[in-house]
This record gives sequence, C-alpha cells and structure tokens, in this order.
Amino acid sequence: MISETRYARVKAFAKLNLCLEVLHRRPDGYHNLRTIFQTVSLADIIDIEVSASRRTQLHIECEVTIPGENLITLAADKVLAATKARAAIRFRLRKVIPMGAGLGGGSSDAAAVLLALPALLGKSLPVERLFEMGAGLGSDVPFFLHGGTAVGLGRGTELYPLPDIPAWPALIVASGIHVSTADAYRALARTSHPPDPAGASPSERVARALASNTDWTGSATNDFEEAVSRLHPELAAIRRTLTRAGASPAMMTGSGSAMFGVFESKEARDAAARCFPEDQVYPVSLLSRRRYRAIWARSLAGVC
Ligand code: C5P
Repeated sequence: MISETRYARVKAFAKLNLCLEVLHRRPDGYHNLRTIFQTVSLADIIDIEVSASRRTQLHIECEVTIPGENLITLAADKVLAATKARAAIRFRLRKVIPMGAGLGGGSSDAAAVLLALPALLGKSLPVERLFEMGAGLGSDVPFFLHGGTAVGLGRGTELYPLPDIPAWPALIVASGIHVSTADAYRALARTSHPPDPAGASPSERVARALASNTDWTGSATNDFEEAVSRLHPELAAIRRTLTRAGASPAMMTGSGSAMFGVFESKEARDAAARCFPEDQVYPVSLLSRRRYRAIWARSLAGVC
C-alpha cells in the first residue's frame, strides 16, 4: 500500500482517422476495420489523486454528464484488480474533446488511466496486459497506449505503428450532431458498399504514402461518411466549406460526426476556422508518437 498521497495531471489526447474502411461483420458482432489512427493536440485533462486507504474508494468529478458507463471508472477497476492494490482514488475530468463525435475522447480517457494509475499506485503492469485491458474497454483504447500514427486492423485493436509524420495543422469541426457508433454501423449496413477494388486498399495506400512522405490525401476516405451524411446532410456542407478553404483532405473522423481538414499552414487553418461558428471549431496539430511519449513521460516523471 502507498504511504503518501500521490498526484498526477495527465492529458488524454483526441484521435482522427486519416482513413477508415469498414469490412465485414464478424461472428462476435464487431466489424473488421482497416484504419489509420492519428493523435492530435486536442486533449481532455485528468487530475488523479491516489491516497492510502484500507478500503478501495473511487470518486470522479466532471462538470459535464458523461453518457453511458464512464470508461475512467471501468479502467480504474481493471487496474485495481490487476495490481491487487487498495487505495482511495479521486479523478477530476475536464472534458475538452467533444463527445460522441468520433474523436475517441472516452477511449483516450480510459487509456490515460491505464497508463497513469499503475505508476500512482507504485505498481507496474506488463505492456501486453495493458493492451489486453484496453481492448476489453473499447476498440479504440489500445491505440491511445501508442499514440502517433498507426494502422489499425481487426476490431481496430491490432496495431502497426507507422513512422512519425509532420505536425500538420488541422481543423476539427464538431457541429454538435451526436452519432451513436451503433447507429452509424446500422446506416452503413443500408448502403450498397462496393467490394474492395483489386490492388491496394485505401488504407494501404495512405499508410505507404505516409511512410514514404508522398501525397496521401487522395486516398484518404471514410466509409461512414456517405452513410452518416445521408442522415445529417449538413455534414456534406461542412466538408465543402473545409475543401473550399484549402483543406486536403476534408473528411469525417471515426463514425462521426466531427469533420476535419488538414491544412498546409496555420494561417490557412485559422482562416478556415472563421467560416464556422466559434464554438464548433477546434484548431489542432497532428501529434507524433515522439511528442505523445514525451508528454506522457513528463506527466509521470515525478510520480515513480
Ligand atoms: O469497442 P467499442 O465499445 O468502441 O464499440 C462500440 C460498438 O461499435 C460495438 O458494440 C459495435 O456495435 C461497434 N463496433 C463494431 N466494430 C468495431 C468497433 C465497434 O461493430 N470494429
């Protein structure tokens, strides 16, 4: 049992899908995916305080209501079970990443707890165990244990890190339309999705182009976008505005409804931001794995 109170403030970063293909439905109900995950600088802030206690107590404070089960609590339960630790744990979550938007905020919060809590409890868990626990919490959680750019296969939990790419400026437009992941998959099932063309798939082309520093934007596509835009036609208008403002690509992330555009300069990104209501835009930069790891190392430096 730890003897003193320990504290850490950590950042749980958002992700974009630079490409997302939904393949077939599996016997377990999930779909096989091919995607390119990318962390960005937008982040929730989580304060974690751990104090000695004979009885485990979990307390979470957040100024907004989190719909559904809170992944922070579920992740903490998993860490406590795996480390057999007992402690009083207090989380304060400042939600910055729009929810239900395909930006992975809830998954990133969970991964942040998997990364920080063992250190705060004075324990360590093998990295394979963390990945297993992450996959049990949600399909996007394991990616946030890596950060940077990575190919995601299977449910999205089979990860192949790609070399770091430049910190391009990007603009996220979260219009407030909430798309449940299950609804997005249902909308997709109603589309006549063409079979994969022969040759490399869009995700393979994007991965190769990113790895060889050539143009990747022409192959970037999101299979959810057409189906979700049919339910919410205003999303197509956001895409057009981003494209007109110089974004390449301009597309949806995850199962939506946030749209994003990647820009050549911060000036172009900031000019594009002025085309949308102020409370719907999030100017960000792509966040490399090197930066992601450095920020994590700094957050936990004083702890262990
Ligand atoms: O794993 P996660 O909790 O994020 O998944 C939420 C829902 O999204 C699943 O219950 C499933 O309906 C759908 N999903 C899927 N295939 C994936 C990931 C998610 O069908 N690869």
